[in-house]
Amino acid sequence: MSNIEVLQLRAAGVSLVLDCSGPALPSVLHWGADLGELSERALLELRRGAGAAQDGNGLDENRPIAIVPEYSAGWFGLPGLNGHRDGQDFSASFRLVDVAQADNTVVVDAADTEAGLTIRLTVELTDSGLVRAKADLTNTGETPYTVDGLTLALPVPTEATELLDLTGRHIGERHPQRHAFTQGAHIRDNRRGRTGADATLLLVAGTQGFGFQDGEIWAVHTAWSGNHRSYAERGMSGYAVIGGGELLLPGEGRLQPQGTYSTPWLYGTYGVGLDQTSTRFHEYLRSRENHPKTDRPVVLNTWEAVYFDLDLDKLKALADAAAEVGAERFVLDDGWFRGRRDDHAGLGDWYVDEGIWPKGLHPLVDHVRGLGLQFGLWVEPEMVNPDSDLAREHPDWILATGNRLPPTARHQQGLNLGVPAAYDYILERLDSILNEYDIAYLKWDHNRDFVDGGNQLTGTAGIHAQTVAVYRLIDELKRRHPGLEIESCSSGGARVDLAILERTDRVWGSDSNDALERQTIQRYTQLLLPPELIGSHVGPPKAHTTGRTQALSFRAITALFGHFGIEWDIASASQEERTELAGWVALHKELRPLLHTGRVVRADRGPSDFLLHGVVAQDNSRAVYAAVQLAQSVTSAVGRVRLPGLDPQRTYRVSRIATPGPASRWQLAWTEPVELNGAALAAAGVLLPAQWPENALLLDVTAID
Ligand code: DGJ
Repeated sequence: MSNIEVLQLRAAGVSLVLDCSGPALPSVLHWGADLGELSERALLELRRGAGAAQDGNGLDENRPIAIVPEYSAGWFGLPGLNGHRDGQDFSASFRLVDVAQADNTVVVDAADTEAGLTIRLTVELTDSGLVRAKADLTNTGETPYTVDGLTLALPVPTEATELLDLTGRHIGERHPQRHAFTQGAHIRDNRRGRTGADATLLLVAGTQGFGFQDGEIWAVHTAWSGNHRSYAERGMSGYAVIGGGELLLPGEGRLQPQGTYSTPWLYGTYGVGLDQTSTRFHEYLRSRENHPKTDRPVVLNTWEAVYFDLDLDKLKALADAAAEVGAERFVLDDGWFRGRRDDHAGLGDWYVDEGIWPKGLHPLVDHVRGLGLQFGLWVEPEMVNPDSDLAREHPDWILATGNRLPPTARHQQGLNLGVPAAYDYILERLDSILNEYDIAYLKWDHNRDFVDGGNQLTGTAGIHAQTVAVYRLIDELKRRHPGLEIESCSSGGARVDLAILERTDRVWGSDSNDALERQTIQRYTQLLLPPELIGSHVGPPKAHTTGRTQALSFRAITALFGHFGIEWDIASASQEERTELAGWVALHKELRPLLHTGRVVRADRGPSDFLLHGVVAQDNSRAVYAAVQLAQSVTSAVGRVRLPGLDPQRTYRVSRIATPGPASRWQLAWTEPVELNGAALAAAGVLLPAQWPENALLLDVTAID
């Protein structure tokens, strides 16, 4: 064992101090604001001043809470490891074996020789100041050991008295909920077999009243696309933690001798204000080697334009219209494969439907490519319709258990990719389609929650295996088809997490293209993801998911701040609409180098019907803000609006961006641009006109010094 005792990792204004002096698993002595470089002596003093609170009736020893909290150490909250060997070895007590550090990554090995277990903990502080941690647990005993759960936890100080996390539903993903961080556990469990439309996304603990700009914040994200848990827990003895991990179904964590179970990564972010905490994720994602490097192509997606009405001439006309307005990628959505005339049949039969496409997809792909657009294709590889050749030939490939079928959802069942032959079949089908056609992009959908997600052949639970198999499948397809981009779609935005993002290139934010709904969905999806990773489309004038009718300017300004696309039958739109849309596409192309690399800024204006958000260039030379009137309001009509996030010292010129389409009847109080420094813009702001509900305007803020 090395002689490492207390380690300090520092990055981007964050310090993480780990007590690795043993004999127990490491605990976090500090996670939060940077402490400057502490001497060895100061680090040891920090340890002396930490630990669990002693009260008159507690344990006689001071045993701090480890990253994997242990019952054996006197943690009475949710244990990190829950497991047993047929009832025995039910409470592990790991002892440190080795600690190794390379830059800002620490790897700790520990063992419980009595219980026959070893654990490897990996803890990193990324360049952007994110903590990420995972555990690999190995059964070194001679009999099987069953892991019922293995979660990691990070401590937060007593000052974190409020919680915020997200919830939602189909066409209404990622809505915030807040409440006091009281004693007990706030547990967000997901057993849907996918990340979920109601997923937590980020579980945030912060000081009273924290907002986008203010308050100290600690937050975690559990990076897993299957069943998972995120939680916050405050114990009796002054301890509070936030953590998470995978939720294992019974038996999924059964380890044979020498078998290993690996947890997902748990990400932790610290910052002042939600903007800073999310910037750390954005910077981390942007620094990934596989982060999309080209301009995000403007998409035309066929779904809300034609649904299942796939007719070659109609699609060619749509592609022509797409090219005319400046789209760069044409995505053929659901309905192109064998037997798929509506959503009742065909999933699993991944052959181009000979009835609709006697010459295959070639005439359409050639046409689209001939227009200079990329071609994209929709798939839903993890699903099967009972009414399909695949289900008829291989009924035992359906995710199910107990000699019964789960209730269908959208008339479909899960296809068990944990069955090697099923996995091979899907890999071969997708690979062969990608070989045959010039496809730049797959829209990869997943349209149901899994119920009874079992492996019929073994009678065991199958969600863990399914989740891992999907990752393997995507990785393999990407390996075979370099440059292929994949969108993570799941009934809209039900698969948004950092594990799927390790291998995909954007998420579909929501099936709601209603711009009003999208303002909230995108604002909170951006807690985790930068704008370029969130698909956002201009839908038809009357939203298909809500029936609201919105001006093109509102729909376009909303889509502008994501990976911009169109999902509307623009071949049937008027020439005026197409001309205006072309103007919005051109504006997006002009702004996307800034919007897709800059820092996301969201102003705190209380629970108002008005939102202000923007993106500031990394060098603070320019910013674009959207001032968005959501609803009619007595309190926010509108007055002076502060513009946060700029360099306080630099002077900026604030002007309204001229936008395509009919001139707005709203006039700014100022006709000439306002010139003020960043400090004044953040503290005093500028007067904006009152707008009608469901309207927005754009401000350009350019440094002039
Ligand atoms: C759900 C997706 O979110 C939609 O965009 C569309 O692709 C449909 N599935 C197709 O079935």
